[in-house]
Amino acid sequence: MIQVDLLKPAGKSEPATLDRPLDHLVACHQRIEDKLVVLERAVAHLEDRTDEALYACHSVGAFLDAGGKLHTEDEEESVFPRIRKHAVGEELAYLDNLELQHREVEAFVSRLKNQTKHLERDPALRPVRETLVQTALKLAALYRAHMASENEVLTRIGRAHLDEVDLAEIAFEMRLRRSHAA
Ligand SMILES: [Fe+2]
Ligand SMILES: [Fe+2]
Repeated sequence: MIQVDLLKPAGKSEPATLDRPLDHLVACHQRIEDKLVVLERAVAHLEDRTDEALYACHSVGAFLDAGGKLHTEDEEESVFPRIRKHAVGEELAYLDNLELQHREVEAFVSRLKNQTKHLERDPALRPVRETLVQTALKLAALYRAHMASENEVLTRIGRAHLDEVDLAEIAFEMRLRRSHAA
């Protein structure tokens, strides 16, 4: 009998790493990093290629709002709670700090989107252009440092504390989350 994965949208392929949740987080970080590079390049051309630059800022903001949000939910709703069951003092504080960093990144994404919208309506507003450049650079720096730490420390803690059952449950929830978002 042919087994059909009911959570997999028809005709849509899913990332190969979804069965290995910690590897999947690292792969998502690379996709986010690619968008941060696009964002940095875009604001460097805000003056000479304004329309193109604003389009790129808009699409990066939309990606971080959608894919970035799913990624944060994977961590905060599926991965962190299962690590917390076994973690000790310093590790718990580390996870709390990652959540604070998520809120900070979200605030910058929201600013990025608002400032981009403002300039889409009136591209000549020089002070808003300057603020958008600062927002984009700060967001890229914050997110990059956060992901570098997760790639090193979170994955190490995760490998130490998550067992096969935890990993299977996390993979299931990641799939479910994406099937709802599709
Ligand atoms: Fe994170
Ligand atoms: Fe992450």
